[in-house]
Amino acid sequence: MNAVYSLQGDAFAQVLVRWQAAHGRQHLPWQHTGDAYKVWLSEVMLQQTQVSTVLAYYARFLSAFPTVHHLAAASEQDVMQLWAGLGYYSRARNLHACAKQVVERFGGQFPSTVAELESLPGIGRSTAGAIASLAYGVQAPILDGNVKRVFCRYYAVQGHPDQSQIQKALWVQAHSNVPADAPGQYNQALMDLGATLCTPKNPNCKQCPLMQSCQALRMGMVGQLPTPKPKKPRPNLYYLAVLLRAPGGALGLQLQTEKGVWHSLWTPPLLPCDSQVNEACLADLCGRWANTYALPTPLQLALRRQAGALQSQPWMVHELTHRKMHFKVVVLDVPEELKQGLQKAGLELALLETKPVPKVVHKLLAHAQAVLLADGAVPQQNTLDLG
Ligand code: ADE
Repeated sequence: MNAVYSLQGDAFAQVLVRWQAAHGRQHLPWQHTGDAYKVWLSEVMLQQTQVSTVLAYYARFLSAFPTVHHLAAASEQDVMQLWAGLGYYSRARNLHACAKQVVERFGGQFPSTVAELESLPGIGRSTAGAIASLAYGVQAPILDGNVKRVFCRYYAVQGHPDQSQIQKALWVQAHSNVPADAPGQYNQALMDLGATLCTPKNPNCKQCPLMQSCQALRMGMVGQLPTPKPKKPRPNLYYLAVLLRAPGGALGLQLQTEKGVWHSLWTPPLLPCDSQVNEACLADLCGRWANTYALPTPLQLALRRQAGALQSQPWMVHELTHRKMHFKVVVLDVPEELKQGLQKAGLELALLETKPVPKVVHKLLAHAQAVLLADGAVPQQNTLDLG
């Protein structure tokens, strides 16, 4: 292929806008609405999550909270309940805080400038650009992960895109390319291209409208760009999850009040332990747990009796961006007479579907089911749906 200079500014934008009209996504429910609330909601959901997953959450959210006023007036638990399963829960907490500020500071109307949008919780520079351009037609650039990948390849930018020098250069490029005409469609084109053709793995360069002038393609470097981030080792964390099941199908749940990934969500007690869950460790856990929760003695004894079974139980692994979590589960039946004791211990006995719970809780139940079946134990009927 002959060396062809990369396109800049309007020439770059024109190619993309034409491609978007013919091949881009046109029927996403928040598109062409001119409704900043809908655009904002979708952009926050799409920050770490693919369109296919977002669609159902978006529809449920919008029917529960049709306007920013409804969302601002909702309880935090109702918001978390509708977000449960989407992950990255700080997004939901910021979403709620943002809705309240839009009502208080802007009378319920999302602002249209990037600076004002960026002053709101959970809205960074790129999300602000997306909302301003998609909802209000403002000539504002975006630079999310997909767009960084497109630019790093197209302009053959070497070095990890989150390094500050590289990031600065990419923003300069992003600013100079965004057109005055149809900035929303142009930004949508960049996002669509990154999601459908210029993908992290197996990019479809043959269909790409920028193929003729892509520098990475010319240099045979599409597979190497963007330069990967040097990997930091993730810490391994070990927990014992205690599934307390009561007659009627309720499960002992506690509200996560510590700042962390699952803040404001409900989980069974998750007891930090070490990678060796032996008798001494369980005794130690029971002691610590009994102190913290005043766990009824019969349940402590039942827990300690599980040491042998726990040692042969495989760990269930749950990977998050910054940590690798390992769980073993203990299932304890809570007889009627101990229910009150559990409530005193700070645990609420509740049906799972009535609380916002992270995905890991469903995984723990499936793991418990497998463990019980492997042990030949038959789960009590109508106590806990372990499926
Ligand atoms: N990812 C982030 N924003 C998006 C949007 N508006 N459409 C499709 N994918 C996106």
